[in-house]
Amino acid sequence: MCGIVGYIGNRNAFPILIKGLKRLEYRGYESAGVAIYSKEINTDKEAGKVADLERVAEGQDQGGTLGIGHTRWANHGEPNYKNSHPHYSENKRIVLIHNGIIENYASIKAEMIKRGYVFNSDTDTEALVHLIDEIQKNEKCELDEAVRLALNEVTGAYAIAVFSKDNPDRLIGARKGSPLVVGIGDKEFFLASDASPIIEYTKNVIYLDDEEMAIMDRDGNITVKTIQNVVKTPYIQELELKLEAIEKGGYEHFMLKEIHEQPKSIFDSVRGRLDAIKGIVRLGGMSEYENRILKADRIIIIACGTSWHAGLVAEYLFEDLARVLVEVEYALEFRYRNPVLSEKDVVIAISQSGETADTLAAMELAKSKGCLVLGVCNVVGSSIPRMSHAGCYTHAGPEIGVASTKAFTAQVSVLTLMALWMAHKKGTISDGRFREIATELENIPSKIQKTLEHCDAQVKYISEILKDSNNFLYLGRGYNFPVALEGALKLKEISYIHAEGYPAAEMKHGPIALIDAEMPVVVIANNQSAYEKIISNIQEVIARKGRVLAIVSEDDVIIEGMAEFTIKVPQTEECLSPLLSTIPLQLLSYYIATMRGCNVDQPRNLAKSVTVE
Ligand code: AGP
Ligand code: GLU
Repeated sequence: MCGIVGYIGNRNAFPILIKGLKRLEYRGYESAGVAIYSKEINTDKEAGKVADLERVAEGQDQGGTLGIGHTRWANHGEPNYKNSHPHYSENKRIVLIHNGIIENYASIKAEMIKRGYVFNSDTDTEALVHLIDEIQKNEKCELDEAVRLALNEVTGAYAIAVFSKDNPDRLIGARKGSPLVVGIGDKEFFLASDASPIIEYTKNVIYLDDEEMAIMDRDGNITVKTIQNVVKTPYIQELELKLEAIEKGGYEHFMLKEIHEQPKSIFDSVRGRLDAIKGIVRLGGMSEYENRILKADRIIIIACGTSWHAGLVAEYLFEDLARVLVEVEYALEFRYRNPVLSEKDVVIAISQSGETADTLAAMELAKSKGCLVLGVCNVVGSSIPRMSHAGCYTHAGPEIGVASTKAFTAQVSVLTLMALWMAHKKGTISDGRFREIATELENIPSKIQKTLEHCDAQVKYISEILKDSNNFLYLGRGYNFPVALEGALKLKEISYIHAEGYPAAEMKHGPIALIDAEMPVVVIANNQSAYEKIISNIQEVIARKGRVLAIVSEDDVIIEGMAEFTIKVPQTEECLSPLLSTIPLQLLSYYIATMRGCNVDQPRNLAKSVTVE
C-alpha cells in the first residue's frame, strides 16, 4: 500500500507534500516522488526514502501551490526510479499518483500501446493516466469527466490524485478499495491516504467512500460525486484523533492494526488470481514454468520462523490436493546438511521481507544444484524474488509489527492458490471440489472479519486470566498442527512466556509430563477429520487438571462442554481452517503481551528482518 498526498491552495505545496509523505512512510517506503505545478508540471522522483527525495528536489522547488506526492510500496513493477510515482501522460499534460492494484491494467495497456501511447514504466498505474488522456482527447471533456469515465473502465483498487497543466486551479481525487481523505482549509484543500498529513492544517475532513471522487478548486469550491456521476452532499467530520493514532489507523499498536487488516490483505492477495466459477487460478509468475512444476518429483519449501509455519501448512495443501511430495526445511538446516537435490526438484522460498539471509543462502544452494526456485514474498523487488526464477507476491502491504500476522495468512492464502492451481492442472481434484474450495477461499476475508468481531472480547477476558502463566502448550492436528507452532511462536516472541507447539497426538510421548493446574493448553480443534481424536487429547489434559483453551468451529457443542475456555470460529473447509484458527491466537498473544506491559511492535532481542546468518 502506498501513501499519497495532494495540495491545492495559496501555500507553497512542496514542504506540505514532503512533510505529508514522511507521515505516510509507514505505508510504503521503497521510492517517492512529487509533481508540482509552477508554469509547468515539474516532477521529482527518487528510489529510496522521502528524505532522499527531499534532498534531490529541495533545490528545484519553484514555489508552486498545486502538487501531489507519493511514497511507494510496489505491487506492479520493481521499486526503482522509472516505476516510482507520479506518472504522467505524454507531453506531461496530466500527472497522476495511485495507491492500489488495477487488475485489468494489462488489457488497458495493450489497447493504449495499440493507439500509439509510449509507456515509460512497468506499473499498472501508468495505464490509467494514458487512458484518462485518451478519453479526454476523444470526448473533448474536462479532466474530471475524463477521470470519471476512465474509472468506470477500471477493475481493482485505487486511490488517486490527479491534475492537468491545462487547469492548474483544480485537483481531483478518487477512491475505490484504497483509502483517501480530503482536508478542507480556508480556500485550500488537502488529499491524503489517511489524516496524518492533514491534521496539522485542518481538522475538517471528508473520508471519501468507494467509487467517489472529489473535485477541488482553488477558489474553495469542492464537488463530491460518484463515478456514476451522482453528486453527493459531502459529510464533513471534525478530526479528534491524535497524529500517532492515525498512523496506526486508530489502533494502539501496528500489530493490532495488522491483525485487523487481514480481511483486506487476504482479499488483495487473492484478488484477480481466482475465478471459482470458471475454475481458473491465474498465477502469472508460475505459468512460464508450468510443465516443470507439474512434473516435479518433489517440492522443497525453505523458510524461517512464521514463514516456515506457512510452509508446513503448504505441505498439507500440496500433498492433500495436488498429490505431490513435499519437504519443509528450516533454511539454514537445509543449507548445511548437504541435501540431495536435482533439476527435478522445485524449491519454494517463503519470506515476508524477502531479505532473510538464511533463506537467501538456502536458495543459492538450490539454484547451484539446478533446482527451479520459486518465491512467495511480500516485498516486490526484494532480494528473494530477484533471486527466484518465478513466484507469487503476497499483497499484504507493509508489515510493521515485528511479530508476523497478516503476512502469515497472506502466505497461506497464496500457497493455497498455488496448490489449487497445481491440483487443477494435474486433475488430482475434481472440478466440483476445486469450486468448493475456491468459493470458500473467497469467503475467508468475511469469515475472518466475523471472527475478529465475535472473539475479541472473549480473548481479552481469557488473556486477563492466563496472562501470568509461565508456560503454555499449543496442540493441533493435521492442517492445524502448524497453527499450534505459530500460536506458540506468537506468544513467546511478544509476551516472553515460554510456549511450545506440538502435534496433539505427540503429547503422550513426553509433553504430558508438563501438564498440571498451572499449565494452559491451547487446543486447536476446528478441523473436522481429527475431531474425535482431539477430544481424547483434551480429556487427557483435563484428567491432569490442565487448563484447556479450545479453538472450535461455531457449531461445536461437545468440546465447549469440556474446555475451561472456548473460542468459536466460523465453519470452513478443512484445508482452509488455519486461516481462521490462527486469528484468535494472534489476538491472545497480543492481549497477553500488552497486559504484561511488553512492547508488542518491537519485542526485545528481535528484528523485523533477519538479514544476517
Ligand atoms: C515471526 O513473527 C518473526 N517475525 C520471524 O520468525 C519471521 O517470520 C522470520 O524471521 C522470517 O522472516 P521472513 O518471513 O521475512 O523471511
Ligand atoms: N500498483 C501501484 C504500483 O505498483 C501502486 C502500488 C501500491 O498501492 O502499493 O506502483
